[in-house]
Amino acid sequence: MAVVILNHALVSHKMTNIRKKDTNTKDFYQNVNEIAGLMAYEISRDFPLKDVQIETPITKTVQKELACDIVIVPILRAGMGMVEGIRNLIPTAKVGFIGMYRDEETLEPHEYFCKLPETIKTGITLLVDPMLATGGSAVAAVNLLKQKGATNIKYVGLVGAPEGVKTLEDAHPDIDIYLAALDEKLNSKGYIVPGLGDCGDRLFGTK
Ligand code: PRP
Ligand code: URA
Repeated sequence: MAVVILNHALVSHKMTNIRKKDTNTKDFYQNVNEIAGLMAYEISRDFPLKDVQIETPITKTVQKELACDIVIVPILRAGMGMVEGIRNLIPTAKVGFIGMYRDEETLEPHEYFCKLPETIKTGITLLVDPMLATGGSAVAAVNLLKQKGATNIKYVGLVGAPEGVKTLEDAHPDIDIYLAALDEKLNSKGYIVPGLGDCGDRLFGTK
């Protein structure tokens, strides 16, 4: 449906923090979560609302509350870096998990885990993964979500390569793609340029 690059001064500033190679694990994780929260704030702007009757200390009144369930689905591992930031804003969101890793040689995605709440069938599913590189992992994750009954999927990533955006758009033209930045290209090893390196390793201090 749409590819949206979220332009926001704080997002740009924090993206620069995580791109710097000397940013340590703690600051990297914190900035990723903060960016995810800022993105969720923008993305949720038009989420459906319903009327509810409540009572303030003064009177009865009809006000608004979210009309549908929200499910956050991180692609493990790196997607986990975005969950806390979104849950801070939407504490009622349920969380599902898709475990997927990219073979370092072939760059093909391999699924190793899937646990999803039933509400993916009726609610809004935010599929979160910081890196949209070849797009293979995102396409496989959306395939799986659709197979399990998800009907309203939004992909939320931090950095996209043009190749990955095109692959995801071509395979799933019905989903919205939200990114904090669209980078130049992929290198010969499938890493995003300029990118930020291996996001999972940087989030969790591995390697
Ligand atoms: C990274 C990233 C995406 C995938 C993107 O995960 O978090 O899931 O690569 O690459 P693609 O668009 O070419 O599929 P990785 O496979 O390194 O696993 P990890 O998060 O466990 O480190
Ligand atoms: N996965 C990452 O973590 N970084 C990239 O640049 C590409 C895929």
